[in-house]
Amino acid sequence: MTKQGLKMPDNFLWGGAVAAHQLEGGWQEGGKGVSIADVMLAGKNGVPRVVTDGVLPDGNYPNHRGIDFYHTYADDFKLFKEMGMKAFRTSIAWTRIFPNGDETEPNEEGLQFYDDMFDALIENGIEPVITLSHFEMPYHLVTEYGGWRNRKLIDFFVRFAEVVFDRYKNKVKYWMTFNEINNQTSWKDPHPMLQNSALKDYSEDEAQELMYLASHHEMVASALATKVAHEINPEMQVGCMIAMNPVYPASSNPKDILFAERAMQTRYYWGDVQANGKYPNWLLKMWEHKGFNIGVTEEDKEILAKYTCDYIGFSYYMSWTVSDTGDEWLEYDETTNHGDNPFLKQSDWGWQIDPVGLRYAMNWMWDRWQKPQFIVENGFGAYDKKDENGEVHDDYRISYFQNHISEMEKAVVLDGVELYGYCPWGVIDLVSASTGEMAKRYGFIYVDLDDMGEGSGERSKKDSFNWYQKLVKSDGVDLYNNED
Ligand code: BG6
Repeated sequence: MTKQGLKMPDNFLWGGAVAAHQLEGGWQEGGKGVSIADVMLAGKNGVPRVVTDGVLPDGNYPNHRGIDFYHTYADDFKLFKEMGMKAFRTSIAWTRIFPNGDETEPNEEGLQFYDDMFDALIENGIEPVITLSHFEMPYHLVTEYGGWRNRKLIDFFVRFAEVVFDRYKNKVKYWMTFNEINNQTSWKDPHPMLQNSALKDYSEDEAQELMYLASHHEMVASALATKVAHEINPEMQVGCMIAMNPVYPASSNPKDILFAERAMQTRYYWGDVQANGKYPNWLLKMWEHKGFNIGVTEEDKEILAKYTCDYIGFSYYMSWTVSDTGDEWLEYDETTNHGDNPFLKQSDWGWQIDPVGLRYAMNWMWDRWQKPQFIVENGFGAYDKKDENGEVHDDYRISYFQNHISEMEKAVVLDGVELYGYCPWGVIDLVSASTGEMAKRYGFIYVDLDDMGEGSGERSKKDSFNWYQKLVKSDGVDLYNNED
């Protein structure tokens, strides 16, 4: 019998995902301000990106260039349409709308840019799925206000949200507030602290408390934005956005199991607050024990309880494995506690490849939060090589997707998890968020640019392009592309 996938429900949104700062370029065009991504130099595999104090004249800032999507999107959308995409997830660069973040009036040129982009998407029959804050906040909010440690940012964010909800109320139905809001459990690593919460210049001792404080402000802002969206258009769906990495116990030792459970609680308490509307007790106890002052007011509690998210947007790339550390408070430290899983292979960047973990995660979230889900990132970063005919035969990527999509289909069709859609990450090659490389490629569409921005910028189809096209056409059944 021929191997097949399972048919997904009608109206399932097969799509693709990117973020503004990783592909738009045009960093100074249309009145755009300087974002956090604009002050990050390129790193490489194993070498973290350095954040500079403002933009230095000779630095290699890959996000300034992206893939020049600011000018090319109309042609790129034609390719997306040809591939059969029904949804496109991108973000609105906050700095195109409010260049510094604290203005009272928005920048019309920036608003018009996204108006035109959404019109072009809709003309191609593609539904926009929009993130409000995807690692690209105005840098001014870091230098002037200290980032999300400052409560004033709640007002700035809600103003930004209200302006774009109102402007695009008839064009965009699916929204998300903060990309991978929970990717801050690595609070010892300055990179996510800046990308997610605009936090810089703090001592090691205050890092963990600051992470919880900033996250609290972000979640209140997210809840208030959800309230505003529903007032503007009750049809709008506003999701949270979680980086889902299941954390497994390294053994069946009950101590490892308990510790892994706490690791899950630690990484996903953001989901508990945003979907269930309240902080879990273990965390309140931990704050008390550590003497953390997060300043959660009665009003905050009401807001969080009342305006929960409509759906769970999430990214899925890998799973992790932990062993008990012996700590009575079960404190989980993402930067040091992980071990290798002997059952899994890793990508060239050390990301553990775990398709079954996707089905596990979807069931886990469904049971815990009882909200529809939307996979808004999943993909395989790899070194692609063109052959002598200039073609990329990325069978490794196709196989990654086949294995993951197969598990996703089982979660929906066999387990009954409600899922809006599937948007594979970096549907077109773009700048890597963690390393700033172009060489870490995810796309179905190849972009001829290297890490220094050299190249023609020309787009070409990889083998995965044709594979995805057939998959979408068959609504998930022709997963293994049996017939040509
Ligand atoms: C997610 C981010 O963490 O992973 C994306 O939301 C990012 O912005 C993606 O690009 C893949 O990570 P990387 O570092 O390989 O680009």
